[in-house]
Amino acid sequence: DPAALARAEGLIARTPDFPVPGVLFRDIAPVLADADALRTVTGALAAPFEGAFDLVAGVEARGFLLAGAVAIAAGTGALPIRKAGKTPRPTASVDYALEYGVATIEAAGDLTGRRVLLVDDVLATGGTLRAATQLIERLGGAVAGVAVVLELTELGGRAAVPAAHAVFTA
Ligand code: PRP
Ligand code: HPA
Repeated sequence: DPAALARAEGLIARTPDFPVPGVLFRDIAPVLADADALRTVTGALAAPFEGAFDLVAGVEARGFLLAGAVAIAAGTGALPIRKAGKTPRPTASVDYALEYGVATIEAAGDLTGRRVLLVDDVLATGGTLRAATQLIERLGGAVAGVAVVLELTELGGRAAVPAAHAVFTA
């Protein structure tokens, strides 16, 4: 529904100079807080990958909410990909650069034979989703797709995650 999508897009908040000067921060929290927008965005994230995944992974922290919503809608389980130090006995760990800083993601378990849809709120430089893709593969899983609510095109993240599906671009 194009009108529902346009309405959801209009709810994305923009804050200049957060968390550091020069960054125009996009926050999807108002989209998550709106029942119609959450349903619309959840459907649009998964639509291109229908039937192609049996697990939905989300990156801490906002990706968790999206992964849970998509998983329930699709009838699958969800996998939290966590920042460093939160996972007991991680079986894979990947370091990456952020638009503003550096980070490490980790997860535990065995994803052999699992087809994983990876979701997140924002594709910025692409470092997070590229690292998450590597993490899923190191755990033995196959990445069935990558989907984000918002791609920030000027940051060039698509080069790091060429197949990413973006519901909105800015
Ligand atoms: C943000 C966002 C994405 C990532 C995108 O998370 O939620 O996960 O950055 O940036 P990239 O494409 O340049 O890697 P952040 O690391 O700020 O963590 P948070 O969700 O815990 O705030
Ligand atoms: N919003 C959310 N996460 C981000 C952003 C943003 O504008 N830039 C890099 N990560």
